[in-house]
Amino acid sequence: MSEVSLQHIEKVYPHSGKKKSNLKVTDEGVLAVQDFNLDIRDREFIVLVGPSGCGKSTTLRMVAGLEEITRGELYIDGKLVNDVEPKDRDIAMVFQSYALYPHMTVRGNMEFPLKLRKMPKDEIERRVNQAAEILGITEYLDRKPKALSGGQRQRVAIGRAIVREPKVLLMDEPLSNLDAKLRNQMRAEIIKLRQRINTTFIYVTHDQTEAMTLGDRIVIMKDGVIQQIGTPQEVFDHPANLFVAGFIGVPQMNFYDAELVLDKDGTYAVMMNGIRVVPTDEKQERLRKAGVGPQAIILGVRPEHIMLLEHGEPGLQGKVEVTEMMGSAVHLHVDAYGRDSIIIAQTSGMEGVRHVPMESGTPISFTFGGNVVHLFSKGDDHNLEF
Ligand SMILES: Nc1ncnc2c1ncn2[C@@H]1O[C@H](COP(=O)(O)OP(=O)(O)O)[C@@H](O)[C@H]1O
Ligand SMILES: [Mg+2]
Repeated sequence: MSEVSLQHIEKVYPHSGKKKSNLKVTDEGVLAVQDFNLDIRDREFIVLVGPSGCGKSTTLRMVAGLEEITRGELYIDGKLVNDVEPKDRDIAMVFQSYALYPHMTVRGNMEFPLKLRKMPKDEIERRVNQAAEILGITEYLDRKPKALSGGQRQRVAIGRAIVREPKVLLMDEPLSNLDAKLRNQMRAEIIKLRQRINTTFIYVTHDQTEAMTLGDRIVIMKDGVIQQIGTPQEVFDHPANLFVAGFIGVPQMNFYDAELVLDKDGTYAVMMNGIRVVPTDEKQERLRKAGVGPQAIILGVRPEHIMLLEHGEPGLQGKVEVTEMMGSAVHLHVDAYGRDSIIIAQTSGMEGVRHVPMESGTPISFTFGGNVVHLFSKGDDHNLEF
């Protein structure tokens, strides 16, 4: 069992007087992490994601015991550990920088944390061999780190963490130093690793793709504050606010100014430049429940949910600026109503695919259905369905 519970965790750093950020500042100092609440289940893979400076590493370091917790309680398996030394928390951490000992071999690096714990020799050997096997680094055990590639070094760093068979494995941007191809490969390795060891993972990244592909649940942070917690599908389908909507999903969701109107019969409709889109029954119900009134809104539509119309069909109007051929799809950058919209048009694998206008300057019409509209408050950015 290894459940981790963060309850009202906060981190206040002293005023530094230097660079401005959007973090909340009080007399006490700068709030790098505010009222962080999360119950992590046994063997869950949790990803903390958000832009640089949002408090991800600070949160992780508080769990590891490398950073003092200003307020709140941290429990591991029901035991309050705020004041427990890092070495006694049964947690291991992997850093972006690998932090291997250069003068030791791979085997030496991996044995090191176990020797410190005075583990019997044969048990050390068993664990190191097993971890090396899992990570595919058996043939490098006698090499020094400098004779390894970046990806191999990161595997050693992960190996050194897992030989301890920690209750919780913390990883802070472990793939950020790798090139794009290796990063994709290592991402798949981490998914495999996760299936082979019985550990709870807390993984930090600024990369939404890593978050979406690795996390059972992801925690999206901004300016020290949790914006949303959910499964990748939940946060993609039902972003809690404009920030999450823009952060999750590539290419980014398109945003437009629009009006939400309420018909006499109680039906909500979105009006935008003369087109009228009626949200699905499910969305109607949620808007009604939330008691949403007619108002000016920010309308969000994902690039893959926009439909191109035949030229001349009534719809929204725009002009192609740039096209990016991606193979099975084309990404059209369209100037529409003074905003840059991105539309993904499929080029193959579908019945009745239309001719995709590629020429810069081509006028196009487009629309979208009532099942793909996201409606945000202009006042405070929250999703009106919640
Ligand atoms: N030791 C420190 N003293 C003062 N401020 C710090 C310290 N460490 C981090 N911060 C600030 O706390 C905020 C969150 O930092 P961090 O947790 O490292 O963000 P992230 O990992 O999401 O990029 C940042 O604004 C950073 O400048
Ligand atoms: Mg960080």
